[in-house]
Amino acid sequence: MEFLIIIGLIFILYVAWKYWTLFMGAGYDPAPMDKVYKMLAIANVKSSDVVYDLGCGDGRILLTAARKFGARAVGIEIDPFRFLFAWFITLLSGQSRKIRIRFGNFFKHNITDATVVILFLYGPTNNRLKGKLSRELKPGTRVVSYIWRFDDWELVDFSPEDRIYLYTIS
Ligand SMILES: C[S@@+](CC[C@H](N)C(=O)[O-])C[C@H]1O[C@@H](n2cnc3c(N)ncnc32)[C@H](O)[C@@H]1O
Repeated sequence: MEFLIIIGLIFILYVAWKYWTLFMGAGYDPAPMDKVYKMLAIANVKSSDVVYDLGCGDGRILLTAARKFGARAVGIEIDPFRFLFAWFITLLSGQSRKIRIRFGNFFKHNITDATVVILFLYGPTNNRLKGKLSRELKPGTRVVSYIWRFDDWELVDFSPEDRIYLYTIS
C-alpha cells in the first residue's frame, strides 16, 4: 500500500513538473530531433543567424542550431530544472561560446537581435506573442512554429506532414 502511494506521489509530481508551465505559455514536450532539424532547415539557418528558441526546454534546438548549422543561439526557459539542464548540457557540449540560455519568462525578455525565432508552444500563446514578435523583430526575421499556426499571418512555407510553419516579419 505504501509503495503504491509513493508511486502515485512520484507520478503526480512528474505531471506537475511537466505541465505547470502550461499556465505560462506551454507544458513540456521536447520536439522530436527530426522535426528540430526540419524547423531549422525550413528557415534556411546559416552561420550568420541568431536563432532564438522561446521556451528552450532541454536546449536541443539551440545545440542543433550551433552544431549543425553553425549559428549562434539563445534560449529562454522559465522552468528552473529545464533551464539548469540546458545550461549544463551546453557547457558539456563545448558550444557555450555560441549558445546563451536565459532564465525567465520570454514575454519579459528582449528578443530584438534574433534573425530566426523557433516556437513550439501552444496556439493561444502564439497569438499572445504576435504583438511582441511584430514590435521587436526586424523585417525579414523568420519565425518557425511547430504544430501551431498563426491565425492571420501569411505563410511563407510549410511542411504539412511535419506540421512546421514558416513566417517572415514584414
Ligand atoms: C513544448 S516545450 C518545447 C521545448 C523545446 N523548445 C523543444 O522544442 O524541444 C515548451 C517549453 O516552453 C517553456 N515555457 C512555457 N512558457 C514559457 C514562458 N512564458 N517563458 C519561458 N519558457 C516558457 C516550458 O517550460 C517548456 O520547456
